[in-house]
Amino acid sequence: MNENHISKEIPDGGLPAPGPEPGDFYTRSIDGRSLLIVRDGAGRTRRFLNQCRHRGARLLPDGARGCRRSFVCPYHAWRYDASGALKSLPRAEAFGALSWSDFDLVEITADDAAVGAATNEGSTP
Ligand code: FES
Repeated sequence: MNENHISKEIPDGGLPAPGPEPGDFYTRSIDGRSLLIVRDGAGRTRRFLNQCRHRGARLLPDGARGCRRSFVCPYHAWRYDASGALKSLPRAEAFGALSWSDFDLVEITADDAAVGAATNEGSTP
């Protein structure tokens, strides 16, 4: 994806939409928090904290953009899809009866207040 693929659409929250293809994404920092903005498989714009749910590592550097089917944490390789769902992790059996959906990426709602609220969440298995 290049700059020309960023739509003129401004979704709730004032962030530009990613490109039109599933997996088109970019990252942006707002108020010191890094966000991942991505087009999911259903064509919707999704906004997540750019933060792994394992131990909070940043998934992608600020200013990253492109198109990916999945997002893999550089630390322990937890993998998320474009809808923010945790899809795989190495040695999953070591986590016992992990409720995977509890560790999907944190989705951000329309306003900045939600960004602040969401970053106060967090748990690490
Ligand atoms: S911090 Fe992301 S997989 Fe461990």
